Amino acid sequence: MPEIIIVKDEAEAGELYARCVADLIKAKPDAVLGLATGSSPLAAYQALAKVVKEEAIDVSQVRGFALDEYLGLPLTHPESYHQTIHRTVVEPLGLDPDKVHVPGDVLDGCPIEDGAKVAGAGAAYDAAIEAAGGIDVQILGIGTDGHIGFNEPGSSLASGTRVKTLAEQTRIDNARFFDNDIDQVPMHCITQGIGTIMKARHLVLLAFGSGKAEAIAETCEGGVSAFCPASALQMHPHATIIVDEAAASRL
Ligand code: GLP
Repeated sequence: MPEIIIVKDEAEAGELYARCVADLIKAKPDAVLGLATGSSPLAAYQALAKVVKEEAIDVSQVRGFALDEYLGLPLTHPESYHQTIHRTVVEPLGLDPDKVHVPGDVLDGCPIEDGAKVAGAGAAYDAAIEAAGGIDVQILGIGTDGHIGFNEPGSSLASGTRVKTLAEQTRIDNARFFDNDIDQVPMHCITQGIGTIMKARHLVLLAFGSGKAEAIAETCEGGVSAFCPASALQMHPHATIIVDEAAASRL
């Protein structure tokens, strides 16, 4: 079962993540970090950037693989996960941008209809993760419907990186990044699969606020089921779930 840590706030959660990753990088300078977008990991990235600076940790060899990307947005779009990961992780930490990968990088705005280009991008991404030796620490947020990455309810727990259709609820949740206009939110995405995520050696899932309480209860105490993709963490040998009181309120 995952270890569950209840913290005061996002800053405290961020410090736990930062300590864990800073120690990893000191021991393994070319550590492979699994990166996530969303608001939940932001304090963790800030805390890590602070520790890296204070302790003068060399991050020049650190590698990164992001979880997911919208399909159909050009890489230059400010809400593309390519840009988001650059803005929130690569720049503040001072990582080498050439060592940080986002699943849609090779697709760059390509529409799902371009089947020839889309086909194979997922398998190639999984192969790149394997070639890097696998992910050491994967940070995760969680959707209000229990999704991880963009693996919506019903996703195979054994899935690899692939193209998916976004759930209506996720498009509603993410409309806040697109002028509150759901029509601007892409319909499709490319996401690491649950099987891909489960291969990471350590999973750290962060969730804050009462809006996540039901998803966290299902994740930790519901049965393992594709209807709550995050419940797969129950089967992971080293998963840590860090939540505040509000997100833990249904446990
Ligand atoms: C998006 C991302 C997920 C993230 C989720 C929750 O759907 N694809 O990886 O976990 O949002 O975001 P937030 O942390 O902002 O609640």
